[in-house]
Amino acid sequence: MREIIFATNNQHKLEEITSITKDRINLLSLKDIGFDGDIPETSDSIEGNAIQKAAYIFDRFAKECFADDTGLEVEALNGAPGVWSARYAGENATYQDNVIKLLDALKGSTNRKARFKTVIALKNSEETITFEGIINGQIIETARGNSGFGYDPVFVPDGYYQTFAEMSSELKNTISHRALATIKLTKYLLDNLR
Ligand code: IMP
Repeated sequence: MREIIFATNNQHKLEEITSITKDRINLLSLKDIGFDGDIPETSDSIEGNAIQKAAYIFDRFAKECFADDTGLEVEALNGAPGVWSARYAGENATYQDNVIKLLDALKGSTNRKARFKTVIALKNSEETITFEGIINGQIIETARGNSGFGYDPVFVPDGYYQTFAEMSSELKNTISHRALATIKLTKYLLDNLR
C-alpha cells in the first residue's frame, strides 16, 4: 500500500482524512515519523502555507508528503479571517476566542455569507501539486453544537439547517471543504499509483 506522510499535528484533521483514505493509503502522521516540532506557516496565502508545510517535511524526511491549510473567508469582512483563521483573535487564541471575535465583527451585518477553503499540497520527488476544496455557507448569530472544532459551531453550509458542529462527523466528513480537497487528492493518488 502507498505510504504517505500527512504533515499535520492536528488530530481532528488526521481523523477526518483517515476516514476518507482508510484502507487505500497508509497515512503516516508526524508522530508516526517521530517529528514533534512546529512546521513554519509564514505565507500570506492558504495555498502558500500548504506548499510550505509539505516542502518542509519532504525536505527533512525525503518521503512523499502532503499538508493542508484551511481558512474561513467571510464576504462581509473582505475574506477575513482567511489565512489568519487560527490566529484571528491573537497568537494564542482558542477556537472560542476566534468565534467570539468573528460574531462581534459581524454584529449587525445582514450579509453572513462565508466559505471554508482547504488547499492540500502534495510533494514528492517529481512534483508539487495542489488540490482545492470549497464549501459555501452562512455564519449564524449564536453558536450551536458541540462536535467538530474551530468555527464549526457558527457555520451552516448551504443546503443544510445544522451547523457543522451539529452534524455527525460522518456527514461533515462527506461534504466539507477538507473532504472535497481530499477526494481530489485521493483520486489523483489512485489514478497515479506507483
Ligand atoms: P489550519 O491552518 O488549516 O489549521 O486552519 C486554520 C484554522 O481554521 C483552524 O485553527 C480553525 O480555527 C479553522 N478551521 C480549519 N478547518 C476547520 C473546520 O473544518 N471547521 C471549522 N474550523 C476550521
